[in-house]
Amino acid sequence: MATIGTDIEKTAALLRAGEVIAIPTETVYGLAGNALNPEAIVNIFKIKNRPFFDPLICHFKDIDAIRPYVKSIPTKALLLANQFMPGPLTLLLEKHDSIPDLITNGSDLVAVRVPNHPMTRALLALLDFPLAAPSANPFGYISPTSAQHVADQLGDKIPYILDGGDCSLGIESTIVMFENEAPVILRLGALKIEEIENCIGKVGVRSHSSSNPQAPGQLEKHYSPHTKIVLSEDVNETISSINNKENIAALLFSKYSEALNQSNQLLLSTSGNADEAAKNLFAFLRQLDGRGFDMIIAEVLPDQGLGRAINDRLLRAAAKQH
Ligand code: TXA
Ligand code: MG
Repeated sequence: MATIGTDIEKTAALLRAGEVIAIPTETVYGLAGNALNPEAIVNIFKIKNRPFFDPLICHFKDIDAIRPYVKSIPTKALLLANQFMPGPLTLLLEKHDSIPDLITNGSDLVAVRVPNHPMTRALLALLDFPLAAPSANPFGYISPTSAQHVADQLGDKIPYILDGGDCSLGIESTIVMFENEAPVILRLGALKIEEIENCIGKVGVRSHSSSNPQAPGQLEKHYSPHTKIVLSEDVNETISSINNKENIAALLFSKYSEALNQSNQLLLSTSGNADEAAKNLFAFLRQLDGRGFDMIIAEVLPDQGLGRAINDRLLRAAAKQH
């Protein structure tokens, strides 16, 4: 079983020895290994049960540490990097040969990010290599936002989980790519579109397709609990239409529904704050998923700020298996 601890030196030593371990970030926990070590990379895919066609994000201590691994940084990418790194921003940049093809599945682009968590920043400062780190969940399941979430699912497969507490943002980074310098969002995430557009102007969004070749990991069915998820814009109506309400749960934005027993309901943010809702989203989904309900009714949030990124995840969680 993995040890859960706060020893950054020990974590660095394990990573130098080629081990795969879990690290905290401000978004979600990552399953990390030396991005330059092919054996460690293969182990990340195996531990996650992740298909090799789904490339990995590389984590760096700062913008300067990224430079040797990319060919160039487009002007708007640099503007974003200067404003939002460290932070919940992932940029797709043209990769240098020093990044193994295994990381990118042969693509010319590599995903780079500077996480904003004090322990992981201290860890990266001790290392002379970047860390490849997908979210530390089995492929297709909900991302972990605490050390215990990681231990529950991958604890028997890794030696160490660096415990940085609950993730402050709670959903994954926003991924931005550039097509001839024009920015396109490939994954809605913890950095709001509004903030990105304030920095570089209008951006495109291309994140809902089921087989987007540019973001192979953005599969339509993702973030999936074992329990069936049903999305609802009008929760009272959806619940009222169900005959047997005994074993139904509801994940709601800010107000309880009177149509259902309150003990079967969780509120993402009693004050109606989408940032708080994002922080609670995955933990609450896990909690409800563990209670053996027949169905979880999830309320669609107002489609702005982090509400958009939350709705995107709920939509994928509700998608049927093909
Ligand atoms: O917040 C985050 O980004 C977290 C923390 C741990 O940093 N990481 C994360 O990684 O969410 P992951 O692997 O669960 O999601 C990364 C997404 C996947 O959908 C993957 O397909 C896409 O990024 N991606 C990575 N490299 C890519 C590349 N070279 N081209 C296109 N998409 C890429
Ligand atoms: Mg993931």
